[in-house]
Amino acid sequence: MIIAVDGPAASGKGTIARALARHYGLPHLDTGLLYRAVALNVLREELDPEREADAVASCDFPDSLLADPQLRTDEAGRVASVVSAHPLVRAALLQRQRRFAQQPGGAVLDGRDIGTVIAPDADVKLFVKATPTIRAQRRHAELRKAGQNVSLDRVLADIRARDDRDARRSEAPLRQAADAALLDTSFLSIEAAVQRAISLVETRAARP
Ligand code: DC
Repeated sequence: MIIAVDGPAASGKGTIARALARHYGLPHLDTGLLYRAVALNVLREELDPEREADAVASCDFPDSLLADPQLRTDEAGRVASVVSAHPLVRAALLQRQRRFAQQPGGAVLDGRDIGTVIAPDADVKLFVKATPTIRAQRRHAELRKAGQNVSLDRVLADIRARDDRDARRSEAPLRQAADAALLDTSFLSIEAAVQRAISLVETRAARP
């Protein structure tokens, strides 16, 4: 069974994808990490993320980089959103994601274009969303917990800028696949959102 989980930043898609993978005993790939790894290479080599050639030159990285804690910073996320708009970067990362999706027992992948581009034939597609304000509040609380002192307004502005860039790019923009089930986590606890996701998977996977 292939499960595709897409949605904007801080919608809860990562938490839901991890919980589904655990529940069904499937391997999980957070595809945002691949774009974050490209971003981290660009930053470390002091290249220009807006230049497609610079970003493409940063796409060849070992799997070990995916465990680097620096991938989780806001800076890496922001630059990931910039490099991910380049068609050649998306092309360079495509096969790696497809191979992961097509392993024998199935897989859970989360990102922006899993249901539309990476695994259009996924057995179950979920599109996870929440209002920008609620996503900003969640991200703000996380950052504070990690000791980073940034204002809620700033986090909200960053979230809106990222949504805009991810949804407006010409190549594989963030959008809900026609056959994806919508899961709005705005007013759900993590536990309730995961339960809802499991019941959507059960319903969808049972369809002929
Ligand atoms: O999910 P995330 O915040 O880790 O993703 C970081 C950026 O990577 C996101 O702003 C857009 C890009 N991305 C993408 O274009 N396609 C994906 N499948 C996953 C992430």
